[in-house]
Amino acid sequence: MKHLLATDGLDADTATAVLDTAEELKHVLLGREVKKLPTLRGRTVVTMFYEASTRTRVSFEIAGKWMSADVINVSASGSSVGKGESLRDTALTLAAAGADCVIVRHPASGAAHRLAGWLTEAGTSVVNAGDGTHEHPTQALLDAATLRERLGDIAGRRIAIVGDVLHSRVARSNVHLLTTLGAEVVLVAPPTLLPAHVDRWPVTVSHTLDAELPGLDAVMMLRVQAERMHGGFFPSAREYSIAYGLSEARLRALPEHAVVLHPGPMLRGMEIASAVADSQRAAITQQVANGVHVRMAVLYHLLAHEEEVA
Ligand code: CP
Repeated sequence: MKHLLATDGLDADTATAVLDTAEELKHVLLGREVKKLPTLRGRTVVTMFYEASTRTRVSFEIAGKWMSADVINVSASGSSVGKGESLRDTALTLAAAGADCVIVRHPASGAAHRLAGWLTEAGTSVVNAGDGTHEHPTQALLDAATLRERLGDIAGRRIAIVGDVLHSRVARSNVHLLTTLGAEVVLVAPPTLLPAHVDRWPVTVSHTLDAELPGLDAVMMLRVQAERMHGGFFPSAREYSIAYGLSEARLRALPEHAVVLHPGPMLRGMEIASAVADSQRAAITQQVANGVHVRMAVLYHLLAHEEEVA
């Protein structure tokens, strides 16, 4: 059985193979008017999103279509989930209907692992497109692809992940992948937005963004996830923005070569100034573009390459 559920446990060779495939696919498609490869003809990919998404959902759909797979999108509101059907029954229904791969986003951490357990027997692959506050492995892979393009190599680079680490599946997946690929990761956040077990992660922790900026090769800004903070959050939005927002002054404090990442969606004026997000130093649209090639590569390794990714 072949799935991509997490970057925790994904070895460097496998991650590098996916990144190399993505780079090759990008090169092959560059400048082509018709972006269509026959690789996954006859395969069926189903996206099943129980949470909102723009980038992940659209790029998986484009990735599947560019590889000639049949892509079907299922959302909680437009399916029998709305009538009370369980995740398990929905998944088994999709597998019985002929899905070769199910791409799932779900608010519950661990949902993708549960799905993989139920679909193993049917031979259907599962890709985690974000489960609660747990993991978002394809986001980390597309971030790594972008860092490779901008910096050449990830090993030995110092990368800060800044902001709401507590609620961020993007942060978790990036911590695992970037450290596996040899980067030094520093988490920069107020104590209230760090997970309790952060001391078990292979990272250093800082509460002072200004002190970190001059030594960085890349800075990854995170969205403050108000939807997961039911009692509000501390510090206040204004205090947070002053202490942790990437302003134009802070951009100037970074080394010239340092790259700015954000997984999106961005809260402009909160965690990142508009002028910074739109600057040449930011790789935000490049991340989105790479997301298509990385997701093509993941589908290729799961459905065409016949090897286990994680
Ligand atoms: N980065 C990301 O997962 O964006 P979406 O929620 O739009 O998919």
